[in-house]
Amino acid sequence: MIVLGIDTSCDDTSAGVIMDGKRVLSNVVHSQVELHYPHGGVVTELASREHLKNIMPVVREALTRARIRMGDLDGIAVTVGPGLVGALLVGLYYAKGLAYARDIPLVAVNHLEGHILSIFLEEEVPAFPFVALTVSGGHTSLYLVEGFGRYVQMGQTLDDAAGEAFDKVAKILGLGYPGGMPIERQARKGLKDAIPFPRAYLSAGSLDFSFSGLKTAVSLYVKKWRDGRKNGDVVTLADVAASFQESVVDVLVHKTMKARQKTCAGSVVVAGGVACNNRLRMKLSEAMSKEDIRVYYPRPEYCTDNGAMIAMAGYHRLLQGERADMSADVRSRYPISDLSRLAY
Ligand code: KG4
Ligand code: ZN
Repeated sequence: MIVLGIDTSCDDTSAGVIMDGKRVLSNVVHSQVELHYPHGGVVTELASREHLKNIMPVVREALTRARIRMGDLDGIAVTVGPGLVGALLVGLYYAKGLAYARDIPLVAVNHLEGHILSIFLEEEVPAFPFVALTVSGGHTSLYLVEGFGRYVQMGQTLDDAAGEAFDKVAKILGLGYPGGMPIERQARKGLKDAIPFPRAYLSAGSLDFSFSGLKTAVSLYVKKWRDGRKNGDVVTLADVAASFQESVVDVLVHKTMKARQKTCAGSVVVAGGVACNNRLRMKLSEAMSKEDIRVYYPRPEYCTDNGAMIAMAGYHRLLQGERADMSADVRSRYPISDLSRLAY
């Protein structure tokens, strides 16, 4: 069964082809970073227009690299939410047109389910049940994953997502957009204990997250620090980046440990753009190894938004007979609890 996955939920136009829910035949991503960079964040209307321009060439390239033709497709999976409405509409309407014209089954996919299942694009996959930490620019959540299509949300961010915190702090420090990579690069040269930024653990036992207080603390610190530097302050920008990163990583590791202990799951999966962060990978693996728990990370290409992970989520729903018709619509908010539970 060959499935094409399409994602236009934010600022990447992506399409991927997978075979039998296992083998990735292609994964093509057209990034809009250069377009949005001067604005310091995603400009929604520009994103939609750019998707319009790129959706056809990106899908064509995905089919070419997979060495297949349109007629070889057994299904088309497309992200319908959560995400930017104008951006999502481009992917959905393109997929609808393709499915209708070629009489190919269409399935609507939740972007978060795509991230959770991205680990199944890899050779080595975890056994169910496992705990999934999804950390991206728009989401920070913990799930118990009981099987394909069977998720129990255990915690979520109450304000900013972890990636959003990286992006906002990078802006404060003048490091550009998106902020995750440049902060990680700076942090490597800095002292992680230089500034004791707060860690929001929230109430005892809570598996929710909150990063907006940390962002404010960094902003206030940087204001004072910029003035102090004139008087010979020895703290460097790298120290600020390292101390901030450590604060985010500590909270993510702590809550993931708690979620794992609470569920007694045998392994942990981390997905989403922030899962590319090497400090997070190192600290989480180290902490989990003390409890003999393995942590699975998709390769960076599968951590950030991509069409292959949407094809993966769509494959399992198609197998269970799920179909979207021509009345399918997009959803800016689409909690995973709204998904129909799959039977296996
Ligand atoms: O999953 P993704 O590509 O898109 C969303 O669905 O949001 O994640 C993008 C986010 C951005 O906020 C970016 O700053 C962050 O992932 N990110 C990182 C790193 N690489 C990307 N955050 C921390 N460290 C990184 N190395
Ligand atoms: Zn994403």
